[in-house]
Amino acid sequence: MKPNIFFILLFFLIYALATLLEASTNSDGGFILEENEKTRIKRSDFPSGFLFGTGTSAYQVEGAYLEDAKSLSNWDVFCHSLGCGENGENGDIADDHYHMFLKDIELMHSLGIQAYRFSVSWARILPRGRFGKVNPAGIMFYNKIIDNLILKGIEPFVTIHHVEFPQELEDIYGSWLNPEMQEEFIYFADACFKFFGDRVKYWITINEPLLLAEMAYELGVFPPFHCSGPFGNCLDGNSDVKPIIAMHNMLLAHGKAAKLYHEYFQPKQGGSIGLTVNSKMYEPLTNSELDHQAARRAFVFQSGWTLDPLIFGDYPEEVKEYLGYELPSFSHDEKNFMKNSIDFIGINHYSTTYAKDCTNSSCSATENCAIQGFVGTVGERDGVLIGEHTAVEGSYVVPRGMEEIVNLIKIRYNNKPMFITENGYSSPDVHEQRVDELINDVKRIEYHASYLASLAKSIREGADVRGYFAWSFMDSYEWLQGYDVKYGLHYVDRQTLTRTPKLSAKWYKNFLTNNTDLVNMEASREKLNTNA
Ligand code: FCB
Repeated sequence: MKPNIFFILLFFLIYALATLLEASTNSDGGFILEENEKTRIKRSDFPSGFLFGTGTSAYQVEGAYLEDAKSLSNWDVFCHSLGCGENGENGDIADDHYHMFLKDIELMHSLGIQAYRFSVSWARILPRGRFGKVNPAGIMFYNKIIDNLILKGIEPFVTIHHVEFPQELEDIYGSWLNPEMQEEFIYFADACFKFFGDRVKYWITINEPLLLAEMAYELGVFPPFHCSGPFGNCLDGNSDVKPIIAMHNMLLAHGKAAKLYHEYFQPKQGGSIGLTVNSKMYEPLTNSELDHQAARRAFVFQSGWTLDPLIFGDYPEEVKEYLGYELPSFSHDEKNFMKNSIDFIGINHYSTTYAKDCTNSSCSATENCAIQGFVGTVGERDGVLIGEHTAVEGSYVVPRGMEEIVNLIKIRYNNKPMFITENGYSSPDVHEQRVDELINDVKRIEYHASYLASLAKSIREGADVRGYFAWSFMDSYEWLQGYDVKYGLHYVDRQTLTRTPKLSAKWYKNFLTNNTDLVNMEASREKLNTNA
């Protein structure tokens, strides 16, 4: 054989092998990053001041729903009157974090995390909103959490409103459908800044307002069960006014609380304030221009609807155009204080789906609605899934989505500082798994490692991302899905409530401590001592 023919054949052989290898990682719709990228990821791929943490929220972990003068929240009432979720489980006890927080903080410390994101229960701090007094026991509880975190060198990242609020605010006002709720929220936020702001340097005003608006004020599946249309969702086309109003009130509430913080508290306390947005990534289903537009629109209708007002002072043009007169407008004064009302963007990112246009092609009635920008979403293209299924319907494992969503947000908002405030994996197979299998959660490790690799890529490309919070610190109450859906790095025995680190916790610890770069440990201790 002549040498040049030999080289040509060799080239084709290598090419064929490479294609085969790529197909084996992609075609099953599995984790899409290359093998080496998954294992290669290490702490030093991230900037030195980057905060790694885990997250929870009050109703999902605290329990103690009637203790120490806490009032009933909308979720307590929902679970007790109607039996919440698919299996009637509730958060009465949850993970009993209310009594076990010291042990939990110990576990966090041994994990080597630098930050912990948690939320404060509105009903624990202001059981009757503005109609009553601040509950000292509630303040004491969170003081203990904050102090103990700082003593362990863990930065507290506090969400003020995460899904639940005192039931009384629903009974009196109809909650977020009423502008009075803005004043309630400012009152609550003010108490948080006043009591905790000397030590808390990262605030998130509201968790995922758009998702809350949809679940609670459109679909009516979360309390307070307001449905928008006659069928409890957007089947009636344009009359999606309730979630739009709820959203408007939440955004204004954020804007007013942030103004208070920026003008009054931040100059004295330092610190920063942001809001978290549920940011799915959307890729066009086909190569048609209409599907490309649909994918862009889906991004604008989800992330943009929330973030544009907080950064540019107004709703995106597309949202205004599609929602027409149903979308309230911001006054001149409101635009002024809404604009630049966040110091950082909190991104909750789990999954990517395909987006298809519904303005010109036929979609199901639930997709064909203005509030979603007339975009349909599907998980499959030509019979191939976009990524592996998770326990949550419509949520797939697509690591590249992390880099893509961060880049979109970076470009649209001029590289405003970002934190990945939630990212995590729940296996669809938990029902069939024994405890030892649940603890041996290799898939969760692959998920975090590959999403982190994707995040590291976006950072290398210049995105100003400053932290990452694995959802969740431990298995907890997952809203309508109860305890069946598990995101935790720690397994929680439902009878004894014993926490057991899963393999993923060990992996995270190893990832965090192997080329250790612990931030601010000493400084944090000093800070607490000076405050004492
Ligand atoms: C997010 C919520 C969080 C948790 C995760 C899985 O939408 O903010 O409380 O339930 O989903």
